[in-house]
Amino acid sequence: MKLIVANWKMNPNSQKEAIQLFNSLKKSLKNLKKAKIVICPPFVFLPLLLKASAFALRKSGLAFGSQNCFWQEKGAFTGEISPKMLRDLGVEYVILGHSERRKIFAETDKIIAEKLKLSLETNLFPIVCVGETKEEKKRGKTFQVLEKEIKIALKKVPKSKIRKVIIAYEPIWAIGTKNSCSPDEVLTAILFIRKLISKLLDKKTAQNMRILYGGSVISQNAEEYLGEKNINGLLIGGASLDVKEFLKIVKIAQSF
Ligand code: PGA
Repeated sequence: MKLIVANWKMNPNSQKEAIQLFNSLKKSLKNLKKAKIVICPPFVFLPLLLKASAFALRKSGLAFGSQNCFWQEKGAFTGEISPKMLRDLGVEYVILGHSERRKIFAETDKIIAEKLKLSLETNLFPIVCVGETKEEKKRGKTFQVLEKEIKIALKKVPKSKIRKVIIAYEPIWAIGTKNSCSPDEVLTAILFIRKLISKLLDKKTAQNMRILYGGSVISQNAEEYLGEKNINGLLIGGASLDVKEFLKIVKIAQSF
């Protein structure tokens, strides 16, 4: 079953627009049997949208995620949100280490590893983003970057929780640029990641790990990625804010 994650980033600007966007998706996401959809709105809209989605609807293949969380459970951490608070709301997934957080908010691999550890202890499904910059790609460093980011992230993951971890390969140069990474290149990166996980953990874990692609996915290119059995789903930014586009992608995902 393919996993489609909608990363709304810092959009939209009001509760009214958020609920409108969600309501226009809701009907079409009702009877999902062959794809899992995770909507990741800004924190402040999560309670509203969780309330707006009936329990039955959530059971049918729709879930909610957040775009970040903190690495401590509670305390004097002004402005932060803990995994426990998210879980308490009914949130099931969390995006960690998105390149925008790494770059703009200086999140390091070590911080991401701490967030990953606590998210798993809190029973969230973490979606860990990894990927190289344009410069790193030019210098032939893609595999090195992936290896470093994944090795550090997985260091503190107990074996019993590894099956909950989801990895998103998001080459930074492909995010929000209309310059998507070719399916061949994505496949090469994902096979490298599986080989690495097999080396770090074991073959079965590597085979079962859910690995997504993200970076300028639109309805016209979604099928090329989803058609690959090694690509378990997509992380979608811009196109997830466009109802028609997003629903087209969901439809494609259901055909696999
Ligand atoms: P994009 O964003 O689909 O707009 O390229 C993807 C992401 O940042 O996760």
